[in-house]
Amino acid sequence: MNIVAIYGSERKGSTYNIVQLILRRLQTESGSLTEFFLPRDMPHFCVGCSNCFSKGEEYCPHAASIAPIREAMVKADLIIFSSPVYVLRASGQMKALLDHFAFQFMIHRPVKEMFTKTALVVTTGAGGGMKGVIKDIKASLDMWGAGKVFTCGSAVFASDWEGVSSKNKTRIEKNADNISAKIIATVGRVKPRMKVKLLFNAFRMVHKKFETNPTDKQHWKIRGWLDSARPWRGR
Ligand SMILES: Cc1cc2nc3c(=O)[nH]c(=O)nc-3n(C[C@H](O)[C@H](O)[C@H](O)COP(=O)(O)O)c2cc1C
Repeated sequence: MNIVAIYGSERKGSTYNIVQLILRRLQTESGSLTEFFLPRDMPHFCVGCSNCFSKGEEYCPHAASIAPIREAMVKADLIIFSSPVYVLRASGQMKALLDHFAFQFMIHRPVKEMFTKTALVVTTGAGGGMKGVIKDIKASLDMWGAGKVFTCGSAVFASDWEGVSSKNKTRIEKNADNISAKIIATVGRVKPRMKVKLLFNAFRMVHKKFETNPTDKQHWKIRGWLDSARPWRGR
């Protein structure tokens, strides 16, 4: 399995360690793992220039950081996003990354490969707020048209991995077993969700009927999506 893991913290704490538990169960000799740590590998905030929408993502002032992450996600069988809970939501560095991928929202220029992609969101909090992190990250995955999104939120009752009780670690290991088994059974067999298909078709009508952003419209047109082609059909 080819996996890309994006960490919303450079800290090798509880969130990182839970991702490692899952990776150990998923990695195969023939597969690959590409890792991005935030903010190290994408240290910028979106400046709001809207170049990505109007001209193309290659005109983003931070394209040099975004392009390798984008390419790795396109090639991967599984994309893992992880973030600790910070004030009930995802870390700021994770949000800064997701802001840079607004151009990939279905209404703009969705990526064909995303519709059959498997994704996993991993988060840990000392006590609560995991739902907020999952919501923050899943909102983008849904709007990118991601085929299947698994989630793994753990209350660790600790500020680092060493502080997590052995009872809690046993529970986390079991959860890692379950999620990994589900991911193995899913990768390569993903069909887009009804919600994603409905949104895609609604946005298709918008591009057909209205004078939308020419860069976006051209993206839909050349792929045949304004005619009968669909991103989840064929190669
Ligand atoms: C700035 C900051 C804000 C936090 N906010 C929350 C919070 O809202 N809810 C919570 O349960 N834990 C919160 N925590 C605790 C961490 O989410 C928790 O310890 C997490 O497991 C740390 O992950 P890590 O070890 O991967 O860094 C916060 C920690 C920091 C540093």
